[in-house]
Order: sequence, then structure tokens, then C-alpha cells
Amino acid sequence: MTTLSQAACAVLSAAEPAEKCRLTRIFAADWREGRITEVGDTLPPARPARPLRPQLLPPKEMPRRSYGGDRGRIGLIHALAHIELNAIDLGWDIIARFTHESLPRDFASDWVWVALDEVEHFEMLERLLASLGAAYGDLPAHDGLWQAAEKTADDILARLVVVPMTLEARGVDTTPPTMDKLAKNGDALTPPALDVIYHDEIRHVAAGVRWFTFVAERRGLDPRAAYLQYMARHYPAGLKPPFNHEGRAQAAFPRDWYEEMARR
Ligand SMILES: [Fe+2]
Ligand SMILES: [Fe+2]
Repeated sequence: MTTLSQAACAVLSAAEPAEKCRLTRIFAADWREGRITEVGDTLPPARPARPLRPQLLPPKEMPRRSYGGDRGRIGLIHALAHIELNAIDLGWDIIARFTHESLPRDFASDWVWVALDEVEHFEMLERLLASLGAAYGDLPAHDGLWQAAEKTADDILARLVVVPMTLEARGVDTTPPTMDKLAKNGDALTPPALDVIYHDEIRHVAAGVRWFTFVAERRGLDPRAAYLQYMARHYPAGLKPPFNHEGRAQAAFPRDWYEEMARR
């Protein structure tokens, strides 16, 4: 690979999760150690390649998850693994899709490290599935995350608002209560993995807020007003509280931005 956007396209074009993970590790090391130095301008595919399994369903057609017992745990972990696999692709996609913005190198570096985190998350969840006698691909999964990516492919501010600042921030809100619930049900293995994910996701939200602010200011916009405008367009019904104010504060997400979007 000669440029980072070409590397991104190679990950996005790899169908098998193990290959996405392997390539992400190689390209992240190439970037860190200076074997890849240019971002380039190779455009990513509209949709990343995906394995034959899991079957992808529209969110509304997803079977209801049963909670409790090994079946419930497998369902939860499988759904999270699917999110993490999408997140690997989203990390690479944002690097290659918006090169025309000519952002500082730190922008690319931030999302390379995000993609690498997502690889760790995916593999951790795969190991948990294996310990339960299951594997990624065993259950259907929904395509909502990539639909969000497609809807925000034409504007980096929309992408940042929807992916890190809403979807990943929602993960920061919901992960601690999920960990509590699992621990109360006697699950000793899943909560520690979710704790690692939780702390990493705070950094991903922080990167989203930081780059959103950077790009908005560069366009001469007031970042808070711009955030509220994009949110009104993409989430007309608002956000569902409760929020994890502590986690969001660690990500430097201003409370007077997202609280304004709370559903009343
Ligand atoms: Fe993640
Ligand atoms: Fe993430």
C-alpha cells in the first residue's frame, strides 16, 4: 500500500472479519512506523464487503432477543460484535471518504487508532462467543449502522454527528447499565470486556467532538448551533435520556449541546 486511503479501501474490500482485523493491524503499524506517510485520495466503496454470514436484515425484521441464560448472552454479544465489525469499517471509511477536506494528519491518525480499538473489541467479543460455543455469523444482524453511514456520506459534519457523537455516545450511555445487569445475572466474563470497550468508546466520542468542532469552526459555523442543526435533521425525534453525563464529560462533549436534544 502506498497511501492510507488505499489501505482503508483494502480493509473495506475485505469480506472476512479476520482479514479486516489482520489488515487493520498491518496498516496501523505501517502508519505509526512511517511506512505509509501519505493519506492520498482513493475513494472508498459505497458499501464495505461483508462475510456471507450473518444474514443482514432491516432493523425492523430482527427477531426479538431473549434475555437471560446463555442464549440471551449470545444474542447480546453477537449484536455487539456486529456493531464492532461495522465500527472497524466506519473508522477506515471516514479516513478515505473525506480526504477532499484536507484535514491535518492527526485526523487520519485518530481514526486509525479508533479502527484498531474496534478490532480489539470485535476479537474480544468473538472470544466470548467462542467460550459460549457460538461464533459471529450464527445469528442474523441488522444493517442500520451502515445505513447511517450511507446517509452521511456526503458531509463529514453529518458523519461525525451521527456516528461518534450519537451512536458511539449512546454506547457510552448504555454500556454501564448493561454491565450491571449482566453482573447481577452472575456473568463474570462479559462485564470486564464491556469495561474495556466503554473506556475506549469515550475516546472515540472525544475524537468525534474534537473534529466536529474543528471542521465547523473552519467553515465559520458556531459548533453548538451546527450540532443542533444536524441533529434536528438526522434525529427529528430527539435523543432518549438518560445520558451518562460523567462519561460524556470525559469525552468533552458539552452538556448544553446534547441535553438540548433530549426528548421531552
Ligand atoms: Fe468499539
Ligand atoms: Fe468506537
